[in-house]
Amino acid sequence: MDNSVRDWAQQAIAQCVSTVMRSRHAVRAFKQQAVDRKLVEAILADASTAPSGANIQPWRVYVVAGRVKDELGDALLAASRAGTMPAPAHFPDPLPDVFRARLQDFGARYYASLEIDRADTAARARQSERNLHFFGAPVGLIFAIDRRLKPHSWIDLGMFVQNVMIAAKARGLDTCPQVSFAPFHSVIAEYLQFQPDEVTVLAMSLGYGDPEAPVNQPAMPRERVSDFARIVGFPEAPSVP
Ligand SMILES: Cc1cc2nc3c(=O)[nH]c(=O)nc-3n(C[C@H](O)[C@H](O)[C@H](O)COP(=O)(O)O)c2cc1C
Repeated sequence: MDNSVRDWAQQAIAQCVSTVMRSRHAVRAFKQQAVDRKLVEAILADASTAPSGANIQPWRVYVVAGRVKDELGDALLAASRAGTMPAPAHFPDPLPDVFRARLQDFGARYYASLEIDRADTAARARQSERNLHFFGAPVGLIFAIDRRLKPHSWIDLGMFVQNVMIAAKARGLDTCPQVSFAPFHSVIAEYLQFQPDEVTVLAMSLGYGDPEAPVNQPAMPRERVSDFARIVGFPEAPSVP
C-alpha cells in the first residue's frame, strides 16, 4: 500500500472513531426493537479489550432482557417506594462549587427537555424511577466489581464501560450509564445471585434510541480543551479545536 493511501485510510479511521465518540449521548427513551443476543456478546467481546492494571480484568457484567429485566425493574421500584434503600451517595456533600454548577446546568437542561418544572418534586421522582426499568430499553446491563479491589481497578471497569458504549454506538445502538442502581445493590445481588464479594457499581440501558423523544434531544455541553488541560513543553502552541 503506498503512503498516500495509508494516510487516507488513517484519516478515515480517525474520522470514524471521532464520529462514533461524538455521537454517543445518554439516551433515555428507546424503540421497542429487540436487540440480538449475538450483538450484545460482540459488544462485550470488543469491550473486553479495555486495558487493566496488570491485566487483572476486574469487570463483571450481568445482562438482563425480557421477563428477567422486567421483574428486576419491578423489584427495584418496589424497594425504592418502600424507602428502605440507602440514599444515593455517589457525590460528596457539599459538592465543590465548580461541579455543583455543572450539575445544576445538567438538571436544568434535562428537566426542560421533559417540560418538568424543577420545583415539581413528584414529577422529578417519577422520571427518576424510570431509571429502574432501564428507561424502557430492551436490554439492561449491571456492572459489578470485586469489593476487595482498590480505586485503580474501578478505573479499569470505567474503561470497560466506555468501551461498551462506543462498541454499541458503532453498531447503531444507544446507551445510558446509570449510577442510580448502585444504592440497590442488595436487591440486585440477591436477584442476580452475585458472587459474595461483588458489588454493584452502575447499570446501563441498551437499545435502539428513539430519535424523536424530547428527552433524547439535549446535547450536554463540554468544557473546552484549554479549560481542563495544561499542555507544556511543545515547540509551539498548537491550535485547539
Ligand atoms: C458513571 C455515570 C453515571 C450516570 N448515572 C446516570 C443515572 O443514574 N441516570 C441518568 O439518567 N443518567 C446517568 N448518567 C448520564 C449522565 O447524566 C450523562 O452522561 C451526562 O449528563 C453527559 O451527557 P451525555 O452522556 O449525553 O454526553 C451517568 C453517567 C455516568 C458516566
